[in-house]
Amino acid sequence: MAHLFDPIDVGLLTLKNRIVMPPMAMDYATGEGEITDEVVGHYLERARGGVGLIITEHLFVSPEGRYSARQPGIYDDALLPGLERLAGTIVDEGVPLIAQISHAGARTTLEASVIQPVSPSGIKVPGVEAEPRELSVDEIIRIADAFTAAAARARKAGFTGVEIHGAHGFLLGQFASPITNHRTDEYGGSLENRMRLSIEIVRRVKAEIGDDMVLAYRLGADDMMDGGFALDDAGKVAQWLVDVGVQLMDVSGGLVGSRSADEGQGYFVPLATAVKSAITIPVIGVGKIIDPLFAESIIADERADMVAVGRAILKDPEWPKAAGVKLGVVG
Ligand SMILES: Cc1cc2nc3c(=O)[nH]c(=O)nc-3n(C[C@H](O)[C@H](O)[C@H](O)COP(=O)(O)O)c2cc1C
Repeated sequence: MAHLFDPIDVGLLTLKNRIVMPPMAMDYATGEGEITDEVVGHYLERARGGVGLIITEHLFVSPEGRYSARQPGIYDDALLPGLERLAGTIVDEGVPLIAQISHAGARTTLEASVIQPVSPSGIKVPGVEAEPRELSVDEIIRIADAFTAAAARARKAGFTGVEIHGAHGFLLGQFASPITNHRTDEYGGSLENRMRLSIEIVRRVKAEIGDDMVLAYRLGADDMMDGGFALDDAGKVAQWLVDVGVQLMDVSGGLVGSRSADEGQGYFVPLATAVKSAITIPVIGVGKIIDPLFAESIIADERADMVAVGRAILKDPEWPKAAGVKLGVVG
């Protein structure tokens, strides 16, 4: 039986425990998306708290894919010095650091976008103000180029891995969802077509980073909306992603609203459990995990291989150390 503080292999990497700090946008970068002392300090404090793996907040892969005004970017080589400093600082602390790379599509906030937001079909994401326009096929291919170039920068900067953001109604989630994707070409309609861009990006990123870096995917396993991407399809999609190189499946959900305050502890863990039954790579479960005993039970009951602890680690960077003490592992 596995435990929260047992090591786990992810690709060629061995993590010291199963606690992950998931991506959480802080908006501490400059207006150009450069890494600041505040960004480095934020992650360093949490690396020192005993976490096994950190996944950065979403880094935007191209200017029109930016979500917010002070979001960190990975869209240009000019950003490399800051990214190198961030990756070097955290990895030197002994904690692997994965860069989440993302395009916000129609979820960009108006304040951040200088040009009209883009999306699969020019359809608004429910509840989001931005009025997007439809992407052409040429533009879709350029977005795959931007993700690939971003992954190359993550490699140059010294990150341990890359996570492609396919959840929460961001661009790849917009392609996956029948609510926001009404295309009639090869990028819309069937499940295979709606996943085509994600699969192509994973394939190209894998070719770019090779086996030395971890390749993770944040899968929106259920839109939690009528007519949306549903859990029934998630296992099949997860296997397709594994087939093209994904080594770590970070399972979340919600076309909008991934961070509920009202749901119970472990609210998205059932999605991870369902996906885990379809694939053999490690799967991360998430959703208001607060109590270390609860986190331990998720691992022990094999409902997920790793747990992401988001807001609890934001509030208390030492959450993993305190969990070790509570479980009698360290201290
Ligand atoms: C302030 C904040 C920012 C977030 N930013 C991101 C993000 O950049 N990328 C992402 O995939 N999820 C993001 N999330 C979702 C978290 O990764 C996580 O899935 C969610 O908070 C649920 O976990 P928790 O209940 O342990 O906080 C964010 C959540 C919070 C609270």
